Amino acid sequence: MSTSPKPYGVDARPKRQATAKNIAAMKGGTPIVCLTAYITPMAARLDKHCDLLLVGDSVGMVLYGMDSTLGVDLETMIRHGRAVCRGAKQALVVIDMPFGTYEESKEQAFRNAARALSETGAGAVKLEGGVEMAETVSFLTKRGIPVLGHVGLMPQSVHAHGGYAARGRHVEEWDPILEDAVAIAESGAFAVVLEGVAEPLARKVTETVACPVIGIGASNACDGQILVTEDMLGLFAINPKFVKRFAELGQSIEDAIGDYSSEVRARNFPGDEHTYKMKGSDS
Ligand code: KIV
Repeated sequence: MSTSPKPYGVDARPKRQATAKNIAAMKGGTPIVCLTAYITPMAARLDKHCDLLLVGDSVGMVLYGMDSTLGVDLETMIRHGRAVCRGAKQALVVIDMPFGTYEESKEQAFRNAARALSETGAGAVKLEGGVEMAETVSFLTKRGIPVLGHVGLMPQSVHAHGGYAARGRHVEEWDPILEDAVAIAESGAFAVVLEGVAEPLARKVTETVACPVIGIGASNACDGQILVTEDMLGLFAINPKFVKRFAELGQSIEDAIGDYSSEVRARNFPGDEHTYKMKGSDS
């Protein structure tokens, strides 16, 4: 790691952080740009380009090699939430509530959401669920905790749903998803993530609910888009249909490490320019 005073490229701009209210006001306007972030240097780079940074529980799969998001705990989310808040100056930072920290009761949800905000400096929490979570969302929002909903494909319910397949590809599946989105929006969520649904349903949900709908695998019809940053940067071999790889950083990393390893083995690195000399010598 660099030891320069600003190792993350954090600039001197004053913090002028977006709020949940700012995001809510973007309904129907210029699409809302969102990405996941888990660490300070990445957050600092994404911040300039994004309206919202989600500290997703996908951190468990992306950084810790878990095979689902179910094993992520609140402490992990708080640790990464703090790191992201250090790097973000303008985007709204949202902390994902991990599985098992909000479903039991609205009081449990409040206690843990309050920790997520007060211990990180983030501006909102996200939780998965539809009609069954509406009362909880209302409880939180009335007590000063901005909530981003998450309906459609809900990764924390992978066992109940039996996988990650897209939803709403048959009209008979539409009503429960639409009802979930409406219930969460009417409970005071400032926006709703809609994951893994067919385009006509995404359009219907976006036209129906009053708050912004942020799609992931939910077509271009939504009010905004979110992706897992490492997916769109090409850091993983698997590539779901809904992900566009905007870079191939996985390959770039492999190439760079290959070069490093060859140069070390050939004693070409470190070169003269990377080598400290005695004070007073010529170079
Ligand atoms: O955890 C996460 O990264 C998410 C997004 C994929 C929406 O929930």
